[in-house]
Amino acid sequence: MIVNRPDSDTFRHVMGHFGSGVTIITSSASGGPVGFTASSVASLSLDPLLLMVGVSQDSETLEAIRGSGAFGVNILRRDQVALAARFASSKRHDRFRDVGSEVMATGSPLLQGSLAWIDCALHAEVPAGDHVVALGRVEACAAFDGEPLFYYRGDFGGWAP
Ligand SMILES: Cc1cc2nc3c(=O)[nH]c(=O)nc-3n(C[C@H](O)[C@H](O)[C@H](O)COP(=O)(O)O)c2cc1C
Repeated sequence: MIVNRPDSDTFRHVMGHFGSGVTIITSSASGGPVGFTASSVASLSLDPLLLMVGVSQDSETLEAIRGSGAFGVNILRRDQVALAARFASSKRHDRFRDVGSEVMATGSPLLQGSLAWIDCALHAEVPAGDHVVALGRVEACAAFDGEPLFYYRGDFGGWAP
């Protein structure tokens, strides 16, 4: 069914068909490490190396990204569903419980045990409606073997070639 001038629920439903990986965006605030679950992440430029993250204007992590001028992208493994749910919940104080993290060159914390990570300096911030697009300049990155976590039509799952 074609929907002209769709409302936000219809748009969300349609975009839910675009399966994605799942990340936790981390940054450093005065009170300690902060972070949130994000699937609106994409590689953007090779010269310079840039990636993009869609961040809600309401995100509390956005203030830390602006303040520190840096953020980390932690690409999650298939078995990290509980972590993805925890970093999306409104109980912010609980997010780093029992999670090992390491401070990287930019000052951002990176989660131990992720499938891959990218340490970024904030290159630019582009307003985009109720979100901003945070452009990250890649300072360091690493990837490891393992199964990725996916998000598709509101559910978490694994990769099935
Ligand atoms: C699978 C999934 C993907 C999400 N992707 C994004 C995203 O790309 N950008 C965003 O701003 N919020 C996204 N969210 C919502 C945030 O994780 C959630 O609003 C979080 O509480 C924000 O935390 P903060 O306000 O402490 O930064 C996503 C949530 C889930 C479950």
